[in-house]
Amino acid sequence: MPDSSAQPATDAPAVDPLALRKALGQFATGVCIVASPPVADEAQPFAITVNSFASVSLDPPMVLWSVQKDSTTYALWLETRQFGISVLAADQAALCDQFAVRGNHAMTDPDAYVLSGNGSPLVRGAVATFDCRVNAIHDAGDHKLILADVLAFASDASREPLIYVRGGVHGSS
Ligand SMILES: Cc1cc2nc3c(=O)[nH]c(=O)nc-3n(C[C@H](O)[C@H](O)[C@H](O)COP(=O)(O)O)c2cc1C
Repeated sequence: MPDSSAQPATDAPAVDPLALRKALGQFATGVCIVASPPVADEAQPFAITVNSFASVSLDPPMVLWSVQKDSTTYALWLETRQFGISVLAADQAALCDQFAVRGNHAMTDPDAYVLSGNGSPLVRGAVATFDCRVNAIHDAGDHKLILADVLAFASDASREPLIYVRGGVHGSS
């Protein structure tokens, strides 16, 4: 019987990565910039665009995101003990693009961010920010899960968030 609706997952071992990516892309998310103070020999703070951000615990407050092991920033994320997470606003698609370019993660514009009380970069104009300290890092296939304690946060409910779904961002500009 023809059926155009989504089919349940099977336990078949062979997975087509593109098909899996497409299925996962049906799940709409926000877009975050995760940003750390300089570590090792880095001269500047560094940042990466992610949509793997998730809330984990309210008491104590904890969140997570995952970093792909082939990222040029991978070693830096294993080294840093803290970072800021900024949830982008609908008019911040340019920042989403900027920090998703391979090998381009230095935060060179000091006017684009403020430092949290803990010293982590928080993007100006974000709809929410979380000042985080690394709690644990867990291995997870081709990613590492980075679990963090939330030290402080802020949000602006008067503005719309940027949305990522089916491989594209949706905002106001
Ligand atoms: C909307 C969006 C979400 C992304 N989410 C993640 C993520 O959760 N984790 C991750 O490691 N990379 C994520 N990326 C990819 C990185 O931003 C970056 O493009 C990728 O790591 C390639 O650059 P790099 O090798 O220099 O890190 C995302 C990219 C986009 C555009």
